[in-house]
Amino acid sequence: MELRLGVVQNRPRFLKTAANLKSCFDLMDKHRADLWVLPEFFASGYNFKTKAEARKCAETSGGPLVSLLKAYAAKNDCAVVAGFPEKSGSKLYNSAVLAHDGRARIYRKTHLFGGEKRFFAPGDTGFWTEKVKGVSVGVMICFDWFFPESARTLALKGAEVIAHPANLVLPWAPEGMKIRSLENRVFSATADRVGVERGLGFIGQSQIVSPNGSLLTRLGHEEVRAAVATIEPWTAKDKRVHPACDLFADRRPRLYAR
Ligand code: ACM
Repeated sequence: MELRLGVVQNRPRFLKTAANLKSCFDLMDKHRADLWVLPEFFASGYNFKTKAEARKCAETSGGPLVSLLKAYAAKNDCAVVAGFPEKSGSKLYNSAVLAHDGRARIYRKTHLFGGEKRFFAPGDTGFWTEKVKGVSVGVMICFDWFFPESARTLALKGAEVIAHPANLVLPWAPEGMKIRSLENRVFSATADRVGVERGLGFIGQSQIVSPNGSLLTRLGHEEVRAAVATIEPWTAKDKRVHPACDLFADRRPRLYAR
């Protein structure tokens, strides 16, 4: 069975949540996809200066933003993965929701980047996978990619597709994610933003990568648009890179312990 996998690359206006959400929906409406991946903090913007500022646009996992994403998913018979600042009690998390089938599952970013550590608590959900239209999907957020354990854990849990909302400021993720896909034999969809926000520049280059590490699509540094690739997710179940070399069966976890 095929899956239409989409990424959205946007240029959010800082703190203009409703307008940013609408412009992403407008980009998505030009295509059909089964699973959409939107950037980290896609509707709020990223470069908060104070915790109060982040808190002002943070929402609960049952708040209006997640409800609107669930409604979009229901209306368009799809699933949506999207990053947002989440508030839970006194804590803020850098979270992503997987909205589909009337449900919302939350992943909280495990490896916070730079100044995020001042406002957000380290994620406590761990890495999970969930079936979307029969396909096993896992989520990690931006800087998580730099820790090979993130993608490996998702792949060991059966992820065929890694949804990767991002706000990339360093140059390495687009090429690095090709290796994450190759070494785990999974599809990955990295959705990034473009533009400069309070002096911080983002690199764009959202992409979809196959289990062979090859690009199925990559957007430009400044492009604002959505792109969709049709994939065969079952191919991610085959971990062989050679008839006699299965990357998962050949692991030696006993020797990896410290
Ligand atoms: C990042 O994790 N947003 C660089």
